[in-house]
Amino acid sequence: MLAKRKPMKINHLLPAFITRHVLFALIIGGVAGIGFILFLTEFDHYTSSEEFCTTCHSMELAAEPYRNSLHYKPASGVRASCGDCHVSEGVFAATWDHFIGTKDLIRQLFGENYDDPVVNALHLPEAAFAAREWFKKRDSATCKRCHVKEAIFGERPDTQQIHLEDAKEKSCIECHYNLVHRHVPDKKTFKRDAWNSMIEEEFGLEKGAAKKILDDE
Ligand code: HEC
Ligand code: HEC
Ligand code: HEC
Ligand code: HEC
Repeated sequence: MLAKRKPMKINHLLPAFITRHVLFALIIGGVAGIGFILFLTEFDHYTSSEEFCTTCHSMELAAEPYRNSLHYKPASGVRASCGDCHVSEGVFAATWDHFIGTKDLIRQLFGENYDDPVVNALHLPEAAFAAREWFKKRDSATCKRCHVKEAIFGERPDTQQIHLEDAKEKSCIECHYNLVHRHVPDKKTFKRDAWNSMIEEEFGLEKGAAKKILDDE
């Protein structure tokens, strides 16, 4: 006769400190954790989209030049979206970028009136410098998602050479900027007065109006 076997209890398979309650807590915690990661992934995905970014970022300065750039309409159709360049790889780094990005939201709500195209244009250089600094700090990591340094043969005979030798100590952003947005000079050669005059002329403002707007903020 066969010995009657006791039904196997799950507890017997686990170390003693894992009681049934601990087990339930782990399972529920795990499911919630996975749910949370999925939520973050979706959240990061949406908040990296062109649609989301351009709810705030002006058409004339950011979006329109972008839509005329090689990154928007390359022959190959490999399009770089706002988030491809501006949001880091990986769900945690991306979430962190968005967390940092909430300062954009705060400035949008409580800062200068960025909906005013003149204010926006006057502040553009600082925004561009900050963005370039962001790329430099990350060694242009988002650029290298798509571009492989060793594989940049280019159209000029020396392009590959440049990327293998001159580019050794430098990050992409140090040589390549003004890629897809309205052009802003290098920080080293930037002159505030010249920029102000240009914006005044563009918007038909009196001389000195730009400085007044900036000082009044
Ligand atoms: C709620 C409005 C809002 C949204 C949405 C938004 N931004 Fe901003 N962003 C701002 C404001 C305001 C500033 C500061 C003013 C400026 O520089 O134009 C700013 C600044 C920036 C800067 C300049 C660098 C810096 O840190 O100051 C970059 C780059 C930028 N945003 C990229 C993005 C990208 C990419 C997205 C989409 C993932 C995005 N923003 C979504 C409002 C927003
Ligand atoms: C190919 C990479 C790339 C893409 C795609 C891209 N950007 Fe940028 N962005 C940059 C770089 C590089 C800068 C630094 C300033 C410069 O040199 O143009 C910058 C700067 C900015 C700034 C600071 C202000 C300015 O215009 O310089 C904002 C805001 C911004 N980007 C928003 C966006 C938004 C919104 C999109 C999508 C519509 C976008 N970017 C798509 C590379 C990119
Ligand atoms: C989503 C992929 C992607 C990302 C991210 C990206 N690029 Fe590009 N880049 C391309 C494609 C596609 C082209 C079109 C040219 C081609 O087909 O070779 C291009 C073209 C270029 C060119 C030559 C054309 C031009 O506009 O001068 C430069 C320089 C360049 N990229 C630099 C950068 C830098 C710097 C960054 C980061 C700020 C960056 N790219 C981010 C895909 C990307
Ligand atoms: C030392 C400066 C320097 C650095 C750093 C550098 N490049 Fe370049 N790059 C150049 C020069 C110069 C050219 C040729 C420009 C031209 O033909 O207009 C070029 C050309 C290119 C082109 C266009 C090739 C073509 O002719 O279509 C791409 C794409 C590019 N670089 C991407 C990158 C990326 C991505 C990085 C970072 C991994 C990078 N570069 C780092 C100087 C640099």
